[in-house]
Amino acid sequence: MADERRTAREIVHEHLERGDGVGWFEPFYAAADGNAAAIPWAVAGPRRELVKWAHEQSAGGGGQSALVIGCGLGDDAEFLAELGYRVIAFDVSQTAIDWCKRRFPDSPVDYQVADMFAPPVEWLVAFDLTVEDYIVQALPPEMRMDAVTASAAFVAPGGLLLAIGRGIEDGAERSGPPWPLTMAELALFEQAGLERQSFHRDFDSAIAPQFRYRAVYRRDGAGQ
Ligand SMILES: C[S@@+](CC[C@H](N)C(=O)[O-])C[C@H]1O[C@@H](n2cnc3c(N)ncnc32)[C@H](O)[C@@H]1O
Repeated sequence: MADERRTAREIVHEHLERGDGVGWFEPFYAAADGNAAAIPWAVAGPRRELVKWAHEQSAGGGGQSALVIGCGLGDDAEFLAELGYRVIAFDVSQTAIDWCKRRFPDSPVDYQVADMFAPPVEWLVAFDLTVEDYIVQALPPEMRMDAVTASAAFVAPGGLLLAIGRGIEDGAERSGPPWPLTMAELALFEQAGLERQSFHRDFDSAIAPQFRYRAVYRRDGAGQ
């Protein structure tokens, strides 16, 4: 186990040292070799903040379209499909997508390998709901504006982006991955053309000065 952990750390650092903030995910999933316990962000079920949001909205998908960015092992995507959304879920890692398909062989979710920075054009400005769950924070701070802009680009007029992650007080030290978002960085979603609808921040002394957030943004649009 200690060897596996060192290997995973080495994979991450080798890529980050050469300025590659995305390339480590595929070998990281591959090194896990089907063992979900080796994936630190996998929580064996949908993210708590996503479930809370859905319950607060009494959100049934009602056949609306949803896109899950960087879907990892697929739990958020499956949750949204159960709620009645038509879900596309993608990840840059082929291993992760193969893993989703093995876990959920009869799933209605359309799992695809894709890069959020070079997505199929038909996904742009196209989804009623876009979910960004621990994605922006997983990419180095110098990619932040690009990651936020890429996430916002999927939202249809009148559609929502649900952003879930960890934040950090401005000025506090951070050394990632992951790199929690400052409040100034969270404001980038609005600079990317969305309007903030709600923002929840949960403090947890175990992770201070970090906190958990879920934020909902909307793209202005006729008819909604
Ligand atoms: C920290 S994990 C979070 C995974 C999942 N959302 C969850 O909460 O379990 C970040 C995910 O984003 C994916 N990812 C990173 N860069 C990406 C990119 N450029 N395009 C698509 N997915 C990407 C990774 O492969 C990884 O599955």
